Amino acid sequence: MTLGVIDECRKLGIGTILLEKTYRQIAYNFPECTIVYLHVVDYNEAAIKFYQKRNDFKYLKIVKDHYEIFGKDYDAEIYFKILEIDQYLQSEMVEF
Ligand SMILES: CC(C)(COP(=O)(O)OP(=O)(O)OC[C@H]1O[C@@H](n2cnc3c(N)ncnc32)[C@H](O)[C@@H]1OP(=O)(O)O)[C@@H](O)C(=O)NCCC(=O)NCCS
Repeated sequence: MTLGVIDECRKLGIGTILLEKTYRQIAYNFPECTIVYLHVVDYNEAAIKFYQKRNDFKYLKIVKDHYEIFGKDYDAEIYFKILEIDQYLQSEMVEF
């Protein structure tokens, strides 16, 4: 999946809500899944801060030259988060 919030609506908590909705869907549909991974291009400082600082993802490793963007190679940073499945099954789904 790809995650994005339009420019005008960033830093309002929407990206975090989208992640939490995703965890809840995982908890209901794949309760055996207890860990999620993501990759992000290494220069995307805003997204890295969003995942690490706001959403408690932990750094795992770098994958060299994972992306090719406009003919140039970029590394991916891999992050993970251990899901507290019970917490998401009990939590209310926030609707817009
Ligand atoms: C990453 C993204 C989804 C975050 O969505 P959001 O709705 O703005 O995120 P939230 O409001 O839930 O979280 C805000 C937190 O994320 C981080 N953050 C978000 N934008 C940031 C920015 N421009 N600079 C620094 N930190 C940023 C901060 O930790 C911020 O908390 P703070 O305001 O207390 O500093 C959004 O910036 C986006 O769509 N970016 C472009 C697409 C993208 O990079 N997607 C991820 C690809 S892997």
